[in-house]
Amino acid sequence: MGVYSKLLLYTVSLSLILVLVYTVYFIKYNDVLQQLTGPATTVKVSLGLQTQDQLTINQDTQQQPLLTTNGYISYQPPGNGWNNQRIVIEMALLFAKILNRTLIVHPISSHSLGEKMERELPPNNRFGYITYNKMAASTLMPLSNVLDLKLMSKLVPVTEINSSHSQFIQNYFSQDTKWRHICHSLGYGYWLDRRPLNQAEVGLLTKQIYTSRKDWRDKCKEEQAEFVLQHEKPIIRYVSDLANDSSDVIYFIEGCLFGIELRFMEYRKALQAREWIKEYVHYKSTYHQLADAVRTKLGSYNALHVRRIKHISGSLTAGHWILEMLNNDFTRDTPIYVATDETNLKWFEPLTEAGFKLYFASNFTDFIDLSHVHKRMRKDVMGMYEQIVCIRAELFLPSPHSTFSNYIMRERGETDSKNGFNYILHHASWAGDNI
Ligand SMILES: *[C@@H]1O[C@H](CO)[C@@H](O)[C@H](O)[C@H]1NC(C)=O
Ligand SMILES: *[C@@H]1O[C@H](CO)[C@@H](O)[C@H](O)[C@H]1NC(C)=O
Ligand SMILES: *[C@@H]1O[C@H](CO)[C@@H](O)[C@H](O)[C@H]1NC(C)=O
Ligand SMILES: *[C@@H]1O[C@H](CO)[C@@H](O)[C@H](O)[C@H]1NC(C)=O
Repeated sequence: MGVYSKLLLYTVSLSLILVLVYTVYFIKYNDVLQQLTGPATTVKVSLGLQTQDQLTINQDTQQQPLLTTNGYISYQPPGNGWNNQRIVIEMALLFAKILNRTLIVHPISSHSLGEKMERELPPNNRFGYITYNKMAASTLMPLSNVLDLKLMSKLVPVTEINSSHSQFIQNYFSQDTKWRHICHSLGYGYWLDRRPLNQAEVGLLTKQIYTSRKDWRDKCKEEQAEFVLQHEKPIIRYVSDLANDSSDVIYFIEGCLFGIELRFMEYRKALQAREWIKEYVHYKSTYHQLADAVRTKLGSYNALHVRRIKHISGSLTAGHWILEMLNNDFTRDTPIYVATDETNLKWFEPLTEAGFKLYFASNFTDFIDLSHVHKRMRKDVMGMYEQIVCIRAELFLPSPHSTFSNYIMRERGETDSKNGFNYILHHASWAGDNI
């Protein structure tokens, strides 16, 4: 080999090593890089010859002025699973619509990273929103990668933030922007869209049934005194009271929009609120990719969502699922897609032994390319694809009390109450349904 070839080879190798070292440091120390605010860009980082893996690096963004004269609605994301985060977005959307304000949405976080970070917190401080606030922009995923924000902005103007939450607060809280902080928890009461206007409506209010969720009392501590003072009668807050608020940003703190109910005085308005959510909160069309593949490969299929990890549904036995399938017209010759967080697929052997043909995400890996998704977000994103698979199945069986399952039921158009309300939009309900 000539001296020039050697030199060239040497130079190329050195550059490759440098690129690799830089990349590793970039990923590892993005927390630090986060401080250096730059324009919002999606940087594809190729890990060179080692792996084909590509990560989408979301970065903190430079401060942009808040412009809308009508003001904004925003919220502290609750962290935890994606479907909990989605519910908060839906609630914020309703507040924005009712109050005619611009909705500021935030990126979404990884469930598993949140759980990992939560374990490192002091036991009395293990809240999803606290871990969310500690996450660097690089681990968060812009909401527009998931939901069709163009569609959502047909209902209310939407401003998307891609920064870490701490950067967002830093960008806007310090300006001469007027913020109003609100904390209202299901532990202490609920929201009503407006104050009663006549005796009949006052009557409706006094008959409301409300069950305090004791497990929600660790949030919104300042409400506690008020709650005790009024002998644990529910604290009702009225959205209409915020109508003339002059704050630039109405901001729901402590992730409190999760697990709150918004009740409407009139049935018509409750129905309309549910329609808004159903019509304007949708996955981007790319999330149909897996469902298309499943349909092509399996033809007609049924689906199960079997939640196993850290959830009350985790105690359901394989026998329970077999019984449920038999009671719900699942047949042995119709393939079944199983959406599950159980990694040990041996757990499903009794179902296979009972004659059911099961398919899992792992049977369709060829059809889904998650290489552009941050490693930490892949499970969450896979779940989104799987929800569409379940929505489009002929028959579906949910895991009880799961927000993941509930979304599927709702999109399948299941109804669950005497008023024909769509399933599990309980967070937007009618006062008349609550007596
Ligand atoms: C946020 O990220 C999305 C997706 O990468 C991008 O389309 C959008 O322009 C970004 N928005 C801002 C304000 O940086
Ligand atoms: C909502 O706000 C816009 C300006 O952002 C204004 O033009 C419109 O009249 C408002 N609508 C209502 C119903 O207040
Ligand atoms: C808000 O202001 C409008 C117009 O000034 C008024 O009619 C309305 O009663 C006010 N609403 C509240 C809840 O104060
Ligand atoms: C589906 O995947 C499971 C495990 O991932 C495997 O045991 C099974 O054979 C696959 N089924 C088909 C039909 O490919």
